[in-house]
Amino acid sequence: MASRNNPPTHGNYHGYYNKRPSTSDQRLALVPRGLFEGKRVLDVGCNEGIVTCEIGETLGAIRVIGVDIDDTLVRAAWKHRRSVWTQQGPPPPISSVHSTIETNGTGSSPSDRRKRRRISQSEPDVGDEGAAPDMSAGPADYFPASFEHMFGPLPIPDVASHGNAADSFPHNVSFRTADWVNNEIPEDDEGYDVVVAFSISKWIHLNGGDEGLLVFFRRVHDVLRPGGTFILEPQEWETYGKAKRMDPRLKANAKTLKLRPDQFETELRKLGFGQGQHLGTAGEGGFRRSIDLYVKQ
Ligand SMILES: C[S@@+](CC[C@H](N)C(=O)[O-])C[C@H]1O[C@@H](n2cnc3c(N)ncnc32)[C@H](O)[C@@H]1O
Repeated sequence: MASRNNPPTHGNYHGYYNKRPSTSDQRLALVPRGLFEGKRVLDVGCNEGIVTCEIGETLGAIRVIGVDIDDTLVRAAWKHRRSVWTQQGPPPPISSVHSTIETNGTGSSPSDRRKRRRISQSEPDVGDEGAAPDMSAGPADYFPASFEHMFGPLPIPDVASHGNAADSFPHNVSFRTADWVNNEIPEDDEGYDVVVAFSISKWIHLNGGDEGLLVFFRRVHDVLRPGGTFILEPQEWETYGKAKRMDPRLKANAKTLKLRPDQFETELRKLGFGQGQHLGTAGEGGFRRSIDLYVKQ
C-alpha cells in the first residue's frame, strides 16, 4: 500500500482518479467501437477498477477481470463496482430508448446496458439532501447518487435471481490482487480476447528492468487467444525521471534500461503481434499519452 513512508513504486496511486477523469474514460473512447462487445477482457493494473467497470458495464464485454498488485486498490475496485451498480438507472421504456438514440445520432445498435446508461446520465442528480426525488418528470434513477451517501450502496443480487446475469454487469466484472507480470491468475487459463494495459508499462519497466517488461509482453501474448487484441497506453520516456526518484531501487534499475517506449512496437512484433495501430492520443498535461493497438497474429 502506498503511504508517505511507502511510496507508490508500482504506480499504485491512491486517489489516482482525482487527477484523471473517472467517467467515460477518454482512452476507451479511442478504442474501435464494438471491440469489447461479447469479449473476455483482462485489465492489467486496474487500480480502483474505473476502466474495468466501464468496459463491463457499458462496452458490452461478457467478462472483465481487473488485476492489480495493490490489495487496497483491489478492495476499492470491488467497492466501485457496487457503487456503479447502485447508480445504474432502470431499463428505459422502449419509446424513450429510441428517442435517445436518435438524439445522439448513433447509427449502431448498442446493448441494453448502454441504452440504460445514457438514459440515466441524461437525468439530473437529486441535489438537495433529504428532499425526495421528483419522479413525475419521466424516467429517473432508482437510487440517485445522493442516496448512496445517505443509505449506503444497494446489494448486488445473486446470479440466479438476475436473469442472464453472469454475462452482464455487475456479475461480469471481478478483480484479483496479483503481481500479474510474475504470477498467473486462475482466469488466465481460459485466455482473453482483449488485454488492456493503461499507464502501467513504465512501472513494470522500472521495477523489473528491460527483462521484466519483456516478460510482461510475452505474458500478454501467451494469454491472448489467436486474433486477440492488446491495447497499450505506454508512458513516455520523459516521465521515467520523476518516477525513478521516488525510490533508490527504481533509480538503480533505471540506469540499466536500454529499451525505450518507442521500441516497444519492435519488441511486440518479435513476439508475434502485427504492426501497431496508433488509435490516437488521450489525456491532458502529463497524462497526454498514445493509445496503441496490437493484434496477435
Ligand atoms: C498508474 S496506475 C494506472 C491505472 C489504470 N490502468 C489507469 O490507467 O487508469 C498503474 C496501476 O498498475 C498497478 N500495477 C503496477 N504493477 C503491477 C503488476 N506487476 N501487476 C498488477 N498491477 C500492477 C498499480 O498498482 C497501479 O494501480
